[in-house]
Amino acid sequence: MMSTVSGRVAVVTGSNKGIGYFIALQLGLSNLFEHVLLACRDESRAADAVASLQAQLPNKVKVSSASLTLGNTESHRAFAKQMEESFGKVDVLVNNAGFAFKGSDSTPFKEQCTPTLDINFRGTVDLTNRLLPLIEKGTDPRVVNVASMAGRLAQLSPELQSKFSSNDLTMAELESLVDQFETAVHDGTQKDKGWGSSNYGISKLAVIAATKVWAREYANKGTVSINCCCPGYCKTDMTSAKGVRDPADGAKNAVIPATMENPPTGQFFENFKVGQW
Ligand SMILES: NC(=O)c1ccc[n+]([C@@H]2O[C@H](COP(=O)([O-])OP(=O)(O)OC[C@H]3O[C@@H](n4cnc5c(N)ncnc54)[C@H](OP(=O)(O)O)[C@@H]3O)[C@@H](O)[C@H]2O)c1
Repeated sequence: MMSTVSGRVAVVTGSNKGIGYFIALQLGLSNLFEHVLLACRDESRAADAVASLQAQLPNKVKVSSASLTLGNTESHRAFAKQMEESFGKVDVLVNNAGFAFKGSDSTPFKEQCTPTLDINFRGTVDLTNRLLPLIEKGTDPRVVNVASMAGRLAQLSPELQSKFSSNDLTMAELESLVDQFETAVHDGTQKDKGWGSSNYGISKLAVIAATKVWAREYANKGTVSINCCCPGYCKTDMTSAKGVRDPADGAKNAVIPATMENPPTGQFFENFKVGQW
């Protein structure tokens, strides 16, 4: 049975630990939400995070979790259905869940490509597209995509840079460019073709490009603000705790565009302000 709750709902993916946990905490403390939903694949860690966050937040903010495996379209579908049935809308979506192979991982570079793109880029695009109809029903609705400075345009040849940064780029063209990168990696020709040498970097570069595509689409519709960010190099499991920034500070780079008054759209936030791609 579908019901639309009255208070604002924030959904944070990958929020059982790391930067996402602190994004959820800070959104809960912002006084702007009555529901904070942790979208997590590990149910046990999600339950621990719900209890820990609920203990730190005012009683009027309800924390809960739902199952989500980013990169699994059936899981995206079930998650979107659950959000529709539980809340009837989503006011803010923070796409924080992300994955990087460790430098020490022995999986060959070619075999790291598809899973990295499937989770970080294709998963984020498919999940967001499924949730956007619910986000459009939100109050002051926003999407924040946690990308990375690893997604800098400068890693590409000038020709590829102009394709990714074109103001005419469509989502279908962006997906095709990412497919071309994947093919080049499988052929071993990615460096010759101007792609640089990071699967993770291209996955995050494509998330930044997708942010700008959605922002253009929704600028015409006039409602949803869609931005992205780099949290900075943070001490989390992803970096084996080698980062230089506390994850609570890194989280602010997502929380600022999710909560600020009169947010811009289509921008890349880093170091707590709008930065350059
Ligand atoms: N740490 C940094 O220095 C840094 C810098 C730039 C950008 N980022 C980005 O910041 C975001 C958070 O990273 P973090 O450093 O906090 O990493 P983390 O501690 O490894 O946390 C990653 C979170 O994403 C979840 N996740 C990963 N793959 C998933 C999947 N397929 N489905 C559902 N959930 C998934 C993890 O869930 P499980 O517990 O189930 O694994 C975990 O909750 C990522 O997007 C990352 O790329 C981090």
